[in-house]
Amino acid sequence: MSDEQSIDKPWAGRFTAPTDAFVEAFTASVGFDRRLYRHDIAGSIAHARMLAHVGVLTEEECRQIVAGLEAIRGEIERGEFTWSTALEDVHMNIEARLTERIGDVGKKLHTGRSRNDQVATDIRLYLRDEIRELARELRRLQEGLLGLAEAEAETIMPGFTHLQTAQPVTFGHHMLAWLEMLMRDQARLQEAYTRVNVMPLGAAALAGTTYPIDREFTARELGFDAICENSLDAVSDRDFAIDLLATCSTLMMHLSRFSEELVLWSSAQFDFVDLGDSFCTGSSIMPQKKNPDVPELVRGKTGRIYGHLMSLLTLMKSQPLAYNKDNQEDKEPLFDTLDNVKGCLRLFADMMPQITVKRENLREAARRGFSTATDLADYLVRKGVPFRDAHEIVGKAVRYGIDNKKDLSEMSLDELRRFSDVIAEDVFDVLTLEGSVAARDHLGGTAPKQVRAAVQRARKRLDDFALTK
Ligand code: ARG
Repeated sequence: MSDEQSIDKPWAGRFTAPTDAFVEAFTASVGFDRRLYRHDIAGSIAHARMLAHVGVLTEEECRQIVAGLEAIRGEIERGEFTWSTALEDVHMNIEARLTERIGDVGKKLHTGRSRNDQVATDIRLYLRDEIRELARELRRLQEGLLGLAEAEAETIMPGFTHLQTAQPVTFGHHMLAWLEMLMRDQARLQEAYTRVNVMPLGAAALAGTTYPIDREFTARELGFDAICENSLDAVSDRDFAIDLLATCSTLMMHLSRFSEELVLWSSAQFDFVDLGDSFCTGSSIMPQKKNPDVPELVRGKTGRIYGHLMSLLTLMKSQPLAYNKDNQEDKEPLFDTLDNVKGCLRLFADMMPQITVKRENLREAARRGFSTATDLADYLVRKGVPFRDAHEIVGKAVRYGIDNKKDLSEMSLDELRRFSDVIAEDVFDVLTLEGSVAARDHLGGTAPKQVRAAVQRARKRLDDFALTK
């Protein structure tokens, strides 16, 4: 990046003294906003075409501008473009280069436009692409979860409340619980996309422009679904970015919850799953270690994404209308969020097929924790015992089991009948783990049959999302 002070700034007309060197470096955004170059060029091309369409530019001027901008895109992509801090940001860097390449015609591009509506447009175009990419990675993860849910529809594990063994559930059912969280995230992404896909261009600096612009034309060129209604709001609004960061924060909160469970499950104490060597790392001192770094880091990154949401909310809270330079600070949190959330989704999606489910251990854990106690209570209720009494009776049986180191299903009929004489031989049908999960056979229940049906429904729901069509 060059920073010669000699470069004439496009806005230098009313100034007599050059910018202080540190001020120049401090206020420049080109170091990070250059990544918007493709969207900046796309926005400029659409703007030039609109200007030609309404007769502000001639067709020939428009042709030269478009060709110049396309050539500049090539220069940037080949790494031949020299970015200059003195030219402040991506917008002025590209515009200055355009004039350098095609001469004075280049100076006409900025007619009826300001960097204020330009930057708002660029960010929206960029976010549109990013949301689509997020949705694609999310979809891969969702499909991974569905694969696991289907393969493990009958695998029994302990279900927890308070992290204490509660009732047996199927592993597939647990995966589908994760999936539901992601389904809501997908809907939120769709909503965020709708809010992003609105065009600020035409608002110019803040009040609109005196040229006979055709905003519908530009919106069509750029594929915007709608046009910002108010020019003051158009250049200052960053709600769409905040909505996306809120969506990303919730998504990360979900990934962090999955991470927490994977970290627990891959410990020697739980030993429910193996995460696959390629997703773990070793210890430099303890030879036996295989650490679940990926879920740990995803869990850790969640805090950073919440931080970015707070940054943007705080950035906006005291700004008077319309554009203020504060808004330049929206970019780094946004970029960092998207880079990281995409990375986390990608890793999670890649990790799903690498997970080995330790079925025997899961089953053993479910068997150990009196997880069919509720089934025994429900059995007593079916035999006419009021639920509160049934609860008490089973509580006593569990106490006996703890003292004698026996699960309910390991007690003899005689032992069980000490607690209630309505208990008969058929009790063993409900005390088995399979009987327990199979009995929860309704929409949203944990029975293997229901899990398989839910997988089929989820596949249809995934196909209905427009963003990944
Ligand atoms: N670099 C600026 C930003 O990111 C572009 C808009 C600057 N507009 C202005 N009037 N200084 O917000």
